[in-house]
Amino acid sequence: MATTRVLITAGEIERRIGELGRQIAEDYSKEPIILIAILKGAFMFLSDLARAIPKPVRIDFIGISSYGKGKTSSGEVRLTKDLDMTIEGADVLVVEDIIDTGVSLSYLIHVLEQRRPRSIQVIALLDKPERRLRPVQAVYVGFKIADQFVVGYGLDFDEEYRNLKDICVLES
Ligand code: IMP
Ligand code: MG
Repeated sequence: MATTRVLITAGEIERRIGELGRQIAEDYSKEPIILIAILKGAFMFLSDLARAIPKPVRIDFIGISSYGKGKTSSGEVRLTKDLDMTIEGADVLVVEDIIDTGVSLSYLIHVLEQRRPRSIQVIALLDKPERRLRPVQAVYVGFKIADQFVVGYGLDFDEEYRNLKDICVLES
């Protein structure tokens, strides 16, 4: 296994998610909000975020794959698991671990918009704005980070490191 260096500690993540949860509860007057987590990277973020929103939420999961093995996107996006719920007329918040090129998210938003939700917004724990190829904007961002490959707190490299409590940079 490669070595890792802590970039954002578990405590910093927890505090920031607390702020985001309170902000979301203030911003959404209608209930419930449907939180849609993108598998697999967002599972841990979803679990903490859902508990930080002091309002009724519904939860669903969607699977897309854009990365093969390794650190760069293949550019091709596929739906690997669809939602269980219908989202027509609902306020949807897509929960993403990290926005990198924006290719996966722009594809996903296009797919979900065709189902006519009342609103659709994005929350991303991490954002690498330098790498953007598609113009996707998250209304809520946990942390902006530089162009480096990170793991932990749900994020993987070849399916490893998802269970780290901190967000870490993979050194080599
Ligand atoms: P995008 O389509 O390039 O924006 O890729 C987004 C997806 O790629 C994320 O949901 C992650 O699963 C993965 N990804 C992008 N950057 C990283 C990283 O630094 N570490 C781990 N996964 C990443
Ligand atoms: Mg991944």
